[in-house]
Amino acid sequence: MKPLILVLNGPNLNLLGAREPTQYGHETLADLAQSCAASAQQLGLDIEFRQTNHEGELIDWIHAARGRCSGILINPGAWTHTSVAIRDALVACELPVIEVHLSNVHKREPFRHLSFVSSIAIGVICGLGTQGYRSALSYFGQLFHEDAA
Ligand code: DQA
Repeated sequence: MKPLILVLNGPNLNLLGAREPTQYGHETLADLAQSCAASAQQLGLDIEFRQTNHEGELIDWIHAARGRCSGILINPGAWTHTSVAIRDALVACELPVIEVHLSNVHKREPFRHLSFVSSIAIGVICGLGTQGYRSALSYFGQLFHEDAA
């Protein structure tokens, strides 16, 4: 069985492509889901790709990943900067987590410089647009296939 990676997207990312394209690019969330699926296939991974505007729903998905998934790739959107609950859920699920942001949050407003997730993630990628998701998947591919070797 292939390692299963849960790819989670937080609030407003359903508007990708239409929302602030100078910040987040022109690709839609559906385009991103498709390119992640293609990368995952090449890397020998399975993925579930999801987005929600409801914090509790995201937390439920993280809980359900415990013991079922091999890792979590998460772009928590604005909840990155506000949610201790998402951080606690990620710790509780006991899975390797990679935090991804499309934009370089460190080049933006000071309130985006704080992340409640970064210190519990194995790594953080920001500013590389949608390439960041594929790079994170590539890391998971190496991690799990090295483990299996
Ligand atoms: C984001 C950065 C966050 O600060 C912002 O609230 C988002 C998107 C990114 O991908 O660059 O919604 O996570």
